[in-house]
Amino acid sequence: MKPVVAPYPAARLRRTRATPAVRALVRENALEPGDLIWPVFVRSGEGIEEPIPSMPGVMRRSVDKVVEAAAEADALGIGAMCIFPYTGIEERTEDCAGAWDPHNHANRAIAAIKAKFPNMAVMSDVALDTYNINGHDGFVENGIIVNDRTVEALVKMALSQAQAGADIIGPSDMMDGRIAAIRAALEQKDHTDVMILSYAAKYASAFYGPFRDAVGASAALTGDKNTYQMDPANSNEALRLVARDLAEGADMVMVKPGLPYLDICRRVKDSFGAPTFAYQVSGEYAMIMAAAQNGWIDQERVMMESLMAFKRAGCDGILTYFAPAAARLLNG
Ligand code: PBG
Repeated sequence: MKPVVAPYPAARLRRTRATPAVRALVRENALEPGDLIWPVFVRSGEGIEEPIPSMPGVMRRSVDKVVEAAAEADALGIGAMCIFPYTGIEERTEDCAGAWDPHNHANRAIAAIKAKFPNMAVMSDVALDTYNINGHDGFVENGIIVNDRTVEALVKMALSQAQAGADIIGPSDMMDGRIAAIRAALEQKDHTDVMILSYAAKYASAFYGPFRDAVGASAALTGDKNTYQMDPANSNEALRLVARDLAEGADMVMVKPGLPYLDICRRVKDSFGAPTFAYQVSGEYAMIMAAAQNGWIDQERVMMESLMAFKRAGCDGILTYFAPAAARLLNG
């Protein structure tokens, strides 16, 4: 598209910015509560809402409190939640068996939300880092993160989540071949309508720091994730990963982190036209909250501006810890 602009003064581009009514008429993008996926952390116990210091306003909730959060989301018009488990160092093992335990607290939270709010789209997390003694998304053998044995475990984990009632399986692990393997297993076990939202272009990012505190992985993690997550210097590789995951049966794809990678969102949307999501990750949330708490920026305005940026970049939806605050504002 080539923009046509008459010479000044025939063209005064300020004309269409002059009043709120006209600005609303020419506005190109809109944000709605229905665009948001709310990531929620679940832990053991009952009646617990435990603040996460590096993510002001975000809690680890026991299952009963996650159900209360679902009621809040439902009332606000947020149609989707994503469940991440917090696992203490004493619950973590080398074989990661907790990951596919049908009764682990993530699976209990998924089932509890679906029992009370059957219309809520519930997304799961597929990766071993929340159960692994060393904090990695895959099994570690002699210091190497092994691919194929990890994929077998991820399939078991995904099936346990589908069994618990998850609508959307969210593989965040970046192993090769996991989308095809999970898709085949879902078909075989009659979970034919369960969706996969692939974390297709997930970068090895320092913006995940507060999340690793939230899920208990910071204390466990040895080394970095550079052998499986993407190099932040790369862009074409993101398109190859998205193409690969769509070809393997992903219904939707994600770019992660969010704001620093809006160029990738745009390229992915333009290249494939598939449902495209971005994850405004923990470090992005923490930066905005920290600056706002210091009085250096206006939290509400920066929050809404950052969320609109994702829509402008071509995203259909956004995973964001701001989901309830943003929905409240959007609902007036
Ligand atoms: C790990 C996972 C991470 C996030 C979601 N799933 C962190 C990581 O890869 O180390 C990050 C989300 C956030 O920072 O908000 N499977």
